[in-house]
Amino acid sequence: MQNNKKHSETVAVIGLGYVGLPLAIRVAERGYKTYGFDMDKKKIEAIKKERSPFKEEFIEKRKHLLSKINASIDPTVLKKADIVVVCVPTPVDEKFYPIFEPLISAIELIIKNRKAGQLIIIESTINPGVCEEVLIPFFSKAKLVESKDYFIAHCPERINPGKDAVSKGYNVTNIARVVGAMSKKGLLMAQKFYESIIDAPIKPMGSIKEAEACKVVENSFRDINIAFVNELAKSFNKMGIDVKNVIEGAATKPFAFMAHYPSRGVGGHCIPVDPYYLIERAKESGFDHKFLRVAREINNSMPAYTVELMHNLLNELGLSIKGTPIGLMGLSYKANVDDLRESPAIKIIEELKKKGARIIRFDPFIKSMSDVDNLEELLQKSKALILVTNHQVFLDIDPKVFKKFGIKAIVDGVNCLDKEKIKKLGIKYRGIGRK
Ligand SMILES: NC(=O)c1ccc[n+]([C@@H]2O[C@H](COP(=O)([O-])OP(=O)(O)OC[C@H]3O[C@@H](n4cnc5c(N)ncnc54)[C@H](O)[C@@H]3O)[C@@H](O)[C@H]2O)c1
Repeated sequence: MQNNKKHSETVAVIGLGYVGLPLAIRVAERGYKTYGFDMDKKKIEAIKKERSPFKEEFIEKRKHLLSKINASIDPTVLKKADIVVVCVPTPVDEKFYPIFEPLISAIELIIKNRKAGQLIIIESTINPGVCEEVLIPFFSKAKLVESKDYFIAHCPERINPGKDAVSKGYNVTNIARVVGAMSKKGLLMAQKFYESIIDAPIKPMGSIKEAEACKVVENSFRDINIAFVNELAKSFNKMGIDVKNVIEGAATKPFAFMAHYPSRGVGGHCIPVDPYYLIERAKESGFDHKFLRVAREINNSMPAYTVELMHNLLNELGLSIKGTPIGLMGLSYKANVDDLRESPAIKIIEELKKKGARIIRFDPFIKSMSDVDNLEELLQKSKALILVTNHQVFLDIDPKVFKKFGIKAIVDGVNCLDKEKIKKLGIKYRGIGRK
């Protein structure tokens, strides 16, 4: 359903990152007067020059709309908005407690620059209860009453940056959403807004807490399933069974099985973070999420396991890990993006350093953290390789090239290389749960 008619409402998006920027572009594309507010000056300058501050296909294709989002570091633009959508980060600290400062600071700015009857929608990932228990008290303190002075709703973002989601045809315009609100009117307003920008079903939830819970459930589901296959990878490795082949076999069952694949660990802003929100919130209510804790533990163990695989391979070759130049192919947490957040690469580097390995980092998307300029230089300088990220450029390498450069051992952290070809060339190979 195309709906590019002019809308009378003005929309402001707070936080122009991976979530907020595509959303702001979409809002402008759908004919709303749009403002984008972010405290990152560099980001705002780039957007004003119609340059995307990060690599994202959806934005690249709509660069011409960047000037339409009226990007600004001035929070007073919020005064003009009938609808404010909050897309600021919600990370966890080293003890995995949620950090609400960015969210609270956004709420304080909204209150300071409020417009009567404004609809405030939180898209940031939060645990059940945050809107009511953490955010609304700030409005109450300012003597603002929900349903009278303002409306608040939650619509958890489901965007999945990178080529994977794009190739499956999903982006901010067509992923079904859930919406929850504090009041009936707020719910209707939020539902109407999303129906005007998204060409997919918008499901109203029974409460704001239910909407908050959806997101953590979605990501915890992923974390648990990935932990299961990571555990299988470790056990099948001992039994000499190729876990990837087994999962592909099991996935031929047309119902009641959903394929998840093992790897060197999970990364990104969501899966390794969101389950902790639920664990912590449930703890406050006197419930211990044992299953979620174990899943986190297993997935957190995978970077060290990956390094252990390399250690063993080098031992088999009579080489010491100490001093051996080990090239890292990729640093970002997923393919074809420059996103380093919670990337297993960080822990892999730490583990390799502990063992005294000489690390050579290369990620074509993250030049600032690369030790070499190109793939050829990486292969020239390395004796062994750990594939951390399945960027297309690594998938395109003919295994003969590894041989040509004298690579002795490869740990395939994402099980994406041609193991048979590599082994035939006399190069030692280990995947995660495949030999
Ligand atoms: N990236 C994803 O794949 C994804 C998917 C679903 C949900 N989410 C959730 O969406 C939220 C945003 O994630 P993201 O990936 O877009 O983060 P991001 O770090 O890419 O972007 C957040 C932006 O908010 C800005 N910001 C921080 N505090 C601010 C403040 N007080 N006022 C104005 N701007 C502020 C930052 O400068 C940054 O540009 C998080 O809660 C995340 O968990 C992310």
